[in-house]
Amino acid sequence: MEKSEKQIIVTGIRPTGDLHIGNYLGAVKPLIDTLEIHPEAEVYIFVADLHGLTDNKPETIHAYRYEVVRDYLAFGLDKYIDSGRVHLFIQSQIGELVSYLAILLSRYTTFNDLMRVPTLKDKLKGNQEAGQATALLGLYPVLMASDILIHNATIVPIGHDQLPHLEKTRELAEKFNNEFGAIFNLPQAQNIANLRVLSMKGGSKMSKSYPEGAIFMSDNAETIRQKVSRAETALEGQMSVSLESLFTIAKELGLDTDQFRSDHMAGKQVAGEFKKQLAELIVILTDEFQKKRKDITDDQIANVIKEGGKKARASAEDMMNKIKRAMKINY
Ligand code: ADP
Ligand code: TRP
Repeated sequence: MEKSEKQIIVTGIRPTGDLHIGNYLGAVKPLIDTLEIHPEAEVYIFVADLHGLTDNKPETIHAYRYEVVRDYLAFGLDKYIDSGRVHLFIQSQIGELVSYLAILLSRYTTFNDLMRVPTLKDKLKGNQEAGQATALLGLYPVLMASDILIHNATIVPIGHDQLPHLEKTRELAEKFNNEFGAIFNLPQAQNIANLRVLSMKGGSKMSKSYPEGAIFMSDNAETIRQKVSRAETALEGQMSVSLESLFTIAKELGLDTDQFRSDHMAGKQVAGEFKKQLAELIVILTDEFQKKRKDITDDQIANVIKEGGKKARASAEDMMNKIKRAMKINY
């Protein structure tokens, strides 16, 4: 395997809707922590609009692709972009290159293997059979491998749910390397979503597809206070996954929850006070985010994307040239 002197971090974000605090705590915050852990790394972060098309209408993707950029800048990515080592772009800016590589990589997997990727099963909606899945859904892991390998990534920050895709990426890279020599690094997951925020209504994970149970970064203070005060907890003296999740959120936002936890378990009525403090912490987070987001201009976004796209293209072209030379398809 070719050893990179430098770490190369690559990650993608699907532009499919407004972000909630689960996305923030499970994806954005850990990504920013990863940037801090690897101050030397070259970083490619992109809005995965082609992936978004797998299960969304083009209008939806179009509506959200710049909004996601705005969100990430408001979350503090602007500082890293200014430093010159973090490149933010839209996947389709180098669309012809990633799709080209996806075609080449498709040679190293089979229909049968693609059908076995667990995330494909999860993405199949309702009564849809695997046999009715679109080819784009089947190719999802190959396209994702291509996003990663086209920059020769060494580190990929992703959530638990994405691990099978990274496994597939490594498998494709390894098969390619076995045939053509050390072209690709074998990227490692930087496991960013060990943390799972649950819906305020209990049960499943917080998700934009169930907005009543989600606290959105765009919610106003009143809505947040209401959602938190009505959030499912547990009877005094008992623990539940919902209450555990509220404690997790609170801890992540810097609240010392030990006293609340032991008082609650001792049968004291502290849930109301705990929720009040939790709601205020979330309001501080969203308020700061919303203020910063408001000040981000369209020009700023256009500029970030233009510069990020240039860097991404240079890196992708460089890799594609190596790959095409290896496969003897260079003209
Ligand atoms: P949603 O379920 O709201 O559509 P996505 O599937 O688009 O969210 O996830 C985007 C990112 O946010 C992924 O990295 C995912 O792991 C993370 N994420 C989504 N929901 C949660 C959650 N409830 N808790 C922690 N992380 C989450
Ligand atoms: N599949 C990822 C998700 O659903 C998004 C994604 C696309 C991605 N390409 C990627 C993540 C490359 C990391 C690296 O969240």
